[in-house]
Amino acid sequence: MSVKIVVGAQWGDEGKGKIVDTLAKDSDILVRFQGGDNAGHTVVNEHGVFKLHLVPCGIFYPWVTCVVGTGMVVNPDELLKEMREVESKGVSTLRLKVSSRAVILMPYHVDLDGLKESGSNILGTTKRGIGPAYADKAERVALRFEDLLDLDYCRERLQQSLPTTNAKLSFLNGKNYSLDECLDLCTKWRAHLADKIIDEVDFLNHAIKDGKNILFEGQLGVMKDLDLGIYPYVTSSNPVAAYAPVSAGIPFRSVTDVIGVFKAFSSAVGGGPFPTEMDEITASSFRGTGEFVDDEFGARTGRARRIGWLDLCVLSYGAMINGYTSLAMCKLDKLDHLDEIKICTGYAIDDQTIHAMPSTRMLARVKPIYITLKGWKQPTTHLRKLEDLPKEAKFYIKTIEEHLSIPIRFVGVGPAREDLCV
Ligand code: GDP
Ligand code: IMO
Ligand code: MG
Repeated sequence: MSVKIVVGAQWGDEGKGKIVDTLAKDSDILVRFQGGDNAGHTVVNEHGVFKLHLVPCGIFYPWVTCVVGTGMVVNPDELLKEMREVESKGVSTLRLKVSSRAVILMPYHVDLDGLKESGSNILGTTKRGIGPAYADKAERVALRFEDLLDLDYCRERLQQSLPTTNAKLSFLNGKNYSLDECLDLCTKWRAHLADKIIDEVDFLNHAIKDGKNILFEGQLGVMKDLDLGIYPYVTSSNPVAAYAPVSAGIPFRSVTDVIGVFKAFSSAVGGGPFPTEMDEITASSFRGTGEFVDDEFGARTGRARRIGWLDLCVLSYGAMINGYTSLAMCKLDKLDHLDEIKICTGYAIDDQTIHAMPSTRMLARVKPIYITLKGWKQPTTHLRKLEDLPKEAKFYIKTIEEHLSIPIRFVGVGPAREDLCV
């Protein structure tokens, strides 16, 4: 029996999709535990190239039951679209399940997100309705998947919530929704998804008793956590590991491993401070043009990602919060061409070194303290063993491991499943 949690150790887009695609092979159950279709998890394997938004990245293994978990906010139309896309490449979605307690993300949530983001207080969200859907969850007016099994109850709930929703939409000059059009959607979603709805709490706790291997897939990264990240430039859920057992309804002591995924440098999408951000010329040499699957453009929105040097303050902060038992580093190969590589080992404000992660406003003022390591100047993508990496690359890895006192067990050297050193 194992309960492993894979989380983003930086600002999102660390390569969680690739690592989950690898780890899911030894799992019986894979659960996406928070977020919604703001996520874009890239998987490159024998079935093709996928940017998965809602479907867990273990869908490619016929023995893995994939659960769209309780902690998620799910746009059913997006889920159905993604299921069709995956199926069109010959991958079955029969073993895909949806938690009865997961929140249904409605079209008006998408509208509200878009309308707010076109106002004056822009956060740089993905405009997928994530914030408004979690707000309705917290207000206790959201619909959940279990509600689809009783359309009269859906009607009752929508009758109560729609007047307030429409007032918000009108305030922002958005279009209003009628009860009938919302109920029509619920009827359609019920027809397509009713047989996938499960009681996740019961399912997972039985699986633990039966000695199954469970893997949790996080979305985004620690710096975008609602409580612990760069508020308000964060998402509206908790990408940290502790939220996996909380949302799944399993005892936290059943967790056996927490795997933090990070990039060999940093990237971020959206607003807010990003201390190690590179100048645009250096950044564009990492980013590419968008032609290749591993170019640095948002897997969800296509926005050019902001690029920075590796930030050990961020990794240490995430390690403290998440308690990683091991780390997976992706995109080492993207450093192959560099003469020198910078690593941020601390922050200073007004010549004073800071020892804890500062507030968002302070973080915008910090100056990173860098060390510079020598590059290895040779390709690594063909390598498969950690011991075969060039000695400068091994030193880069050792420097990070020693700083964090956590082993790096996987090193990504290319976008495909097999491009991994272990
Ligand atoms: P996620 O959201 O954490 O799953 O990450 P994304 O899929 O949004 O972004 C990671 C990007 O890096 C994708 O374009 C992947 O194809 C790519 N990628 C992941 N690991 C590696 C790696 O080791 N090397 C290279 N070159 N690309 C990688
Ligand atoms: P994965 O899972 C990178 C960012 C947005 C914005 C903030 C809030 O692929 O790592 P939201 O739409 O969630 O209300 O936006 O979070 N963001 C992501 N950045 N990768 C993601 O997902 C993201 N999901 C949201 O850019 O700054
Ligand atoms: Mg992503």
